[in-house]
Amino acid sequence: MEKNIVLIGFMGTGKSSIGVKLAEKLNMNFVDMDREIERITGMSVGELFRRHGEIRFRSEERLMAQKLSRRKNLVIATGGGVVLQEQNIALLRENGILICLTAAPEDIFERVKRKRANRPLLKKNLKVEDIDAMLKAREPYYSVADFTVNTSGREIDAVVDDIVNYIKSLEKNSV
Ligand code: S3P
Repeated sequence: MEKNIVLIGFMGTGKSSIGVKLAEKLNMNFVDMDREIERITGMSVGELFRRHGEIRFRSEERLMAQKLSRRKNLVIATGGGVVLQEQNIALLRENGILICLTAAPEDIFERVKRKRANRPLLKKNLKVEDIDAMLKAREPYYSVADFTVNTSGREIDAVVDDIVNYIKSLEKNSV
């Protein structure tokens, strides 16, 4: 496919696991932005934040958005905060379809509470209410998506099928 499929959404909404399956199904290449930033900087996301701060991480994220927006046939799993910089969205949209994954705060809480190492923005004694507040603050940023899919209580394959159907509907309408 000419265009990239860009998965956006809050931490723990399944961007990486869904992205891998989606890429497989559509015969596209999968890229996880955070893993790619880690490869290039030689530091984990946690380490980048710890040693150089969020500003440095966001600047690496911006460079990565620039780089990936020049490529084709990619399914890109972004980090949850990529949407905070308008420039990233403009870049990724140039050659991409933006799909937002959502989930209920309770599910996000369950999914992220044991996977905190690369999520320094989550505080130590995290509660569902904290997730809820962050989700509300970020809502306007995620609303830039072309298509939004809820992942709560759903199998990965069902979510992947929804996205595939959406992409096919776009292709049909463009003929
Ligand atoms: C972040 C989300 C993380 C990672 C970093 C910042 C955010 O990615 O990029 O910790 O601001 O929401 P995931 O969405 O993959 O957890």
